[in-house]
Amino acid sequence: MNPADLHAVRGEILHFLADPASHGEAAIEHFADGLLLIRDGHVAETGPAGELLARLPADVPVTDYRGKLILPGFVDTHIHYAQTDIIASHGEQLLAWLEKYTFPAEARFADPEHARAVAEFFCDELLRNGTTTALAFATVHATSVDALFEAALKRRMRMITGKVMMDRHCPDFLRDTAAGGYAESQALIERWHGRERLQYAVTPRFAATSTPEQMRLAGRLYAEHPGLYLQSHVAENRGEVAWVAKLYPEARSYLDVYDRFGQLGMRSVYAHCIWLDDTDRRRMADTGAAVSFCPTSNLFLGSGLFDFGRARELGLRVGIGTDVGAGTSFSMLQTLNEAYKVLQLGGQKLSAASAFHLATLGGAHSLYLDERIGNFLPGKEADFVVLDPAATPLLARRMQGAQTLDERLFVLMMLGDDRSIAATHVLGRVAWQRPG
Ligand code: GUN
Ligand code: ZN
Repeated sequence: MNPADLHAVRGEILHFLADPASHGEAAIEHFADGLLLIRDGHVAETGPAGELLARLPADVPVTDYRGKLILPGFVDTHIHYAQTDIIASHGEQLLAWLEKYTFPAEARFADPEHARAVAEFFCDELLRNGTTTALAFATVHATSVDALFEAALKRRMRMITGKVMMDRHCPDFLRDTAAGGYAESQALIERWHGRERLQYAVTPRFAATSTPEQMRLAGRLYAEHPGLYLQSHVAENRGEVAWVAKLYPEARSYLDVYDRFGQLGMRSVYAHCIWLDDTDRRRMADTGAAVSFCPTSNLFLGSGLFDFGRARELGLRVGIGTDVGAGTSFSMLQTLNEAYKVLQLGGQKLSAASAFHLATLGGAHSLYLDERIGNFLPGKEADFVVLDPAATPLLARRMQGAQTLDERLFVLMMLGDDRSIAATHVLGRVAWQRPG
């Protein structure tokens, strides 16, 4: 062991060993005064600080985060980096919003310099919000993928992205072709997939903007390379659902379109999943496909309420996504806040434990990354976020009245945002730190 590679952080530590919805208290490990020991960017050990410090060599550097809460880095399972600059665009629902705001914004990514600048800002903004892993859409331009992978590589972040495949029902300047989209994706896979912490996602935008031929080739690509992801959108908006039914009259449902083209399986991730029936949900569960629940986006675009309870009952993998720029915040805390409200509107209750599980181990599990990230078991990659439970006067005041861990976590997710992030560590090292 090289002692130079060994360091630790001390503070209140919380992580999940399993899903609290099924495992209750046993799912949560909590050390009021804990130590997270890191070797070569990976978790070596976690436990009570007193116990660990007593047997560690005295010269192991320890960063003191006492008074702060240390959690595994957040996992954002659905976000569009190219929509960073159109977050908070007024007045439209999905299809008009795409035409009016999204497509013009994405057109600008034909310029690699613009892509590079946005990718830099985007990765910094993720880290500023405690997010260390993301599954992100790029644009139709191959260079937009290069830009995001390069920005993530520089920061050593876990990033999964892919070139949007879109060969119909979009402006000419954003359209690829079935064969061209396949070949460009193939080249990007060879360039990036599996390099450091980067992985590639085959990215047909949604069934409406791909011809059946492009859908077939996307399914083929996903099957051709081991470990690839596939990301898309499904059943977000009722107008969209009706349109897809017209475009693919042979399909039983919107989800069935993807199924017919071999696009459901492990590491396939579908944003929204609002207007599904139980046949669809069962099919997702059976194939190992995952849902990305995007509450701020679903409320902002007036899309509908995701049925989290039913998805869980039927055993689907569910992660949470900000879906910026239809989503209204990069903050996972704010996203959990809105998730809570979406469930309230559906007569369901999201516990604070389930919410933070969703943002960490649950998200990792939905992406089949729970062997590598999501909690602090030995060997995991040491990505973590340091939360300040008293970041604002209101948080500090409300926290004083919080009795239990559950209550404190709930206050944090309801009142917290980027101001609550004191630091974000990637592979053990500080990747972002709040000034001051
Ligand atoms: N469906 C197809 N494209 C998009 C997109 O960019 N954002 C959202 N929210 N839904 C979509
Ligand atoms: Zn999206």
